[in-house]
Amino acid sequence: MMKLTFLGHAAFLLEAKGIKALIDPYISRNPQSPIKADSLSGITHIFVTHGHGDHLGDACLIAKRCNSLVITNAEIGHYLTDRGLRVHSLHIGGRTKFDFGTVKMTPALHGSAIDEAEGRYGGNPGGFVIEAEGKKVYHAGDTGLTMDMKLLEPEHIDVALIPIGGNYTMDAEDAVRAVEFVQPKMVIPMHYSTFPVIQADPAVFKARVKNAEVQILSPGEHIEL
Ligand code: NI
Ligand code: MN
Repeated sequence: MMKLTFLGHAAFLLEAKGIKALIDPYISRNPQSPIKADSLSGITHIFVTHGHGDHLGDACLIAKRCNSLVITNAEIGHYLTDRGLRVHSLHIGGRTKFDFGTVKMTPALHGSAIDEAEGRYGGNPGGFVIEAEGKKVYHAGDTGLTMDMKLLEPEHIDVALIPIGGNYTMDAEDAVRAVEFVQPKMVIPMHYSTFPVIQADPAVFKARVKNAEVQILSPGEHIEL
């Protein structure tokens, strides 16, 4: 069984056979975080979609403590290797097999400066299709609506994690179209209401989505697949 816990903003904990992973672990400075970064143990993998502080977050801290493998793009990978972390780099469009399943990196329309390294070049931002125990999760990262999302339809995504907050990413209206492109079975809205500038009502998003089940999770809540 796969368990997916929302940690607020774009941060998730994904647990399945052979993997206990964080995605975009923005925890200690995340005003929505239901947990402390210190309380996480045994993290095997950390996925980082891009270099912004609200995504790279506590990745270094936790990866050092747990000896986690960080999965990210080549540029952020170089930076984290320099910092002494264990890294697996891949890039947009690439799929790789791991012990627990597979990971494919997907495009995102956004930026990726590494905030904590004074804006060092962080390559292209992305998202991930993570497959474990036969279930597929798509974390879109920070992105605007893009036609590339149509390419995900044949992936048969079980759960899509889609930003709805606007300003830096899609708003709820564009996110509804993203769900039409991706055709997931279920969608969980993310990246909203953490800061005043990305205030959004997930109920409005939920009411407009016609082709997938929408699960609105409060930080700390989880789903099982
Ligand atoms: Ni960002
Ligand atoms: Mn962000």
